[in-house]
Amino acid sequence: MKMMRLAKLGLFATVATLVLHPAANGQEPNRTRALARQPWLNPALSPDRRAALVVAKMTTDEKLKLVFGYFSSTFTPKNYVGPKEGRDGAAGYVPGIPRLGIPAQHQTDAGIGVATQGAAKKIRERTALPSGLATTATWDPDVGYAGGRMIGSEARSSGFNVMLAGGVNLQRDPRNGRNFEYGGEDPLLAGTMVGAQIAGIQSNNVISTLKHFAMNDLETGRDYHDAVIAPDAARISDLLAFQIAMEKGRPASVMCAYNRVNSVYACEHKWLLTDVLRRQFGFKGYVMSDWGGTHSTVAAANAGLEQDSGFPFDKEPYFGAPLKAAIAKGLVSPARLNEMAHRILWSMFKVGVVDRPLVMGPIDMRAHAEVTRADAEQGMVLLKNDGNLLPLGPDVRRIVLIGSHADKGVLSGGGSSQTYPVGINAVPGLQPTSWPGPVVYYPNAPLDAIRRLAPNAEVSFVDGTDPAAAAAAARAADVAIVFLTQWATESIDAPMVLPGNQDQLIEAVASANPRTIAVLETGGPVLMPWASRVPAIVEAWFPGTAGGDAIANVLTGRVNPSGKLPVTFPMSEAQLPRPIRPGTGLKNGEMFSINYTEGATVGYKWFDAKRLEPLFPFGHGLSYTRFAYSGLKAAPSSSRRGAVTVSFTVRNTGRVAGMDVSQIYIAPAAGGWEAPKRLGGFKKVNLAPGESRSVMLEVDPRLLATFSGGMWRIAAGQYKVMLGASSRDLRQTKTVRLSASTMPDTWRP
Ligand code: BGC
Repeated sequence: MKMMRLAKLGLFATVATLVLHPAANGQEPNRTRALARQPWLNPALSPDRRAALVVAKMTTDEKLKLVFGYFSSTFTPKNYVGPKEGRDGAAGYVPGIPRLGIPAQHQTDAGIGVATQGAAKKIRERTALPSGLATTATWDPDVGYAGGRMIGSEARSSGFNVMLAGGVNLQRDPRNGRNFEYGGEDPLLAGTMVGAQIAGIQSNNVISTLKHFAMNDLETGRDYHDAVIAPDAARISDLLAFQIAMEKGRPASVMCAYNRVNSVYACEHKWLLTDVLRRQFGFKGYVMSDWGGTHSTVAAANAGLEQDSGFPFDKEPYFGAPLKAAIAKGLVSPARLNEMAHRILWSMFKVGVVDRPLVMGPIDMRAHAEVTRADAEQGMVLLKNDGNLLPLGPDVRRIVLIGSHADKGVLSGGGSSQTYPVGINAVPGLQPTSWPGPVVYYPNAPLDAIRRLAPNAEVSFVDGTDPAAAAAAARAADVAIVFLTQWATESIDAPMVLPGNQDQLIEAVASANPRTIAVLETGGPVLMPWASRVPAIVEAWFPGTAGGDAIANVLTGRVNPSGKLPVTFPMSEAQLPRPIRPGTGLKNGEMFSINYTEGATVGYKWFDAKRLEPLFPFGHGLSYTRFAYSGLKAAPSSSRRGAVTVSFTVRNTGRVAGMDVSQIYIAPAAGGWEAPKRLGGFKKVNLAPGESRSVMLEVDPRLLATFSGGMWRIAAGQYKVMLGASSRDLRQTKTVRLSASTMPDTWRP
């Protein structure tokens, strides 16, 4: 975390500047004279001052250049070829102003690594992290930060200074095709984990982009559907996740979403972009639109959009010639154009994009494989382990792996964030092979890894297309490991049912061999009608480019699983707030609303409020060891009004080392919240057998408040503080009394 602190202080950028900027390393004969000519290049000045100085020197056309971005790849449907100055196969390019020393923005997707867009002439082979949801399942912000730092460094070495990473839309519906890119269903957990990743990315002097702001929680009809929600409920759910991520990560940029919110498009939504983002959150950076997410010139510019991205995806080049015309007509003020340019430049100065020019360079693939492997290992969730079937012991002589190309690789999620590894695709040709595909398996096969780790066992593979043949192979083995996959991708949603014959397959295998283990590679929750008949289940998510090794390490006990569910796994779609997915049966383009009548009662909060029994609850995850909690104490914080300080001790009472995620939930004795309880804090600790550790946490006062009438309100009364191993495994409770207090909507820690 040292790098993070340096970056926060702005020191890293300053040091780098002195070493790297041409104006500062002796190439200019007289640095003082150069800085006198272009004082905004002086890193000793504040980003605000620097932005003001350079904006004052810019022509209107130069300002207009900064607010209009191009797709940087070929787009055949519109006969479009990306600008030659851009990077081929990249998401975006925004020209710089060379005469003023302002570099171009080279923008790349996304949250798991440096992606390549579909029509690229050459695919970039880069390291891919596990999915965002998998990283969130680590419940360890240090892991999130390390992953962000790694992919940010690959972005920089690949010639990018903006990374479109930082997806934090809450999981409101497990069928949303992009859940895998995000941070799950709880605002505190999602905001903390995504914020850590953003800080890691920006430690490379690369801008990170919090997205998709806001309520972009379903892909069906995403370009036009209307997310209808009470603003106060949004403020304590989806918007709180964004706010926490912003506070933890300080992203210099925010991407507004495709959809409408309460009937207005997100990219021209004054309440979202100006009132919430600027005034309440105190955001000083710039808002860029999603690719094709702008719908107007005047409304968008005046509502708070600064950069219209991804020409030619919009219907018109709204911030191109139409913006120039709108300024000439006085519909958008010159002051607003100045502000737009100022915010973009402020961000570039703040993060160090101007001070540290891009230098393409080699990537340490081996070191980065370790980062992604550690992330995958810590994010894997052992959902079930009856009779301690796992880890596989030395007594296991015959192992059969079944299905899902486990002999070739591990599945990844699709869409604009698709990152390709060295070797590109272990299973090419699966449908769809083009947008929103291709379906990509990373060439890191569980079969090879298990063979390496179990040299004395006979490890075979059966492809799983024929359940009877798979069952026969399972019968002849000591242990059967069935790999179950569901591909997920941007732009389409997925039912919760595993595709193809996979449910049948695992039923057949489990009936043939009671020692059957299920390994899931999915974007998020799926239904498991067979769960009670399968003794061991591991959720491996989309585990990234070292996923095969990570799976093998967990199955064989080289790594003790420590992931916890960042989302509830429902028993059936009937348990969801909207059992039928909104938009079902409508023609593409047919307008519909999603009525988020559940408000902030999202995920486990919904399951608690409705007294529903999930298949696996939020926060759940087993270990090969056991942990005990003791000494829970809770008291009003002495230093922060409205906050609560909590302390307790965790002890590893088992025989192997392991990591525990202790979770604090809070609930007002009198009720009155959107749900019976909320997650108030969590901490991951690594403990040797017999070791104990005391943990102290502070519960953010916003998590003890309701939001109404533009205020956070903490009601006087008793609050239960509960310590547990999951949202449904609460081990100790203490009560704390809080007095009534309010905080303004601009309150920040
Ligand atoms: C996605 C964004 C992405 C952008 C650029 C859009 O389709 O929604 O998340 O950053 O494309 O590729």
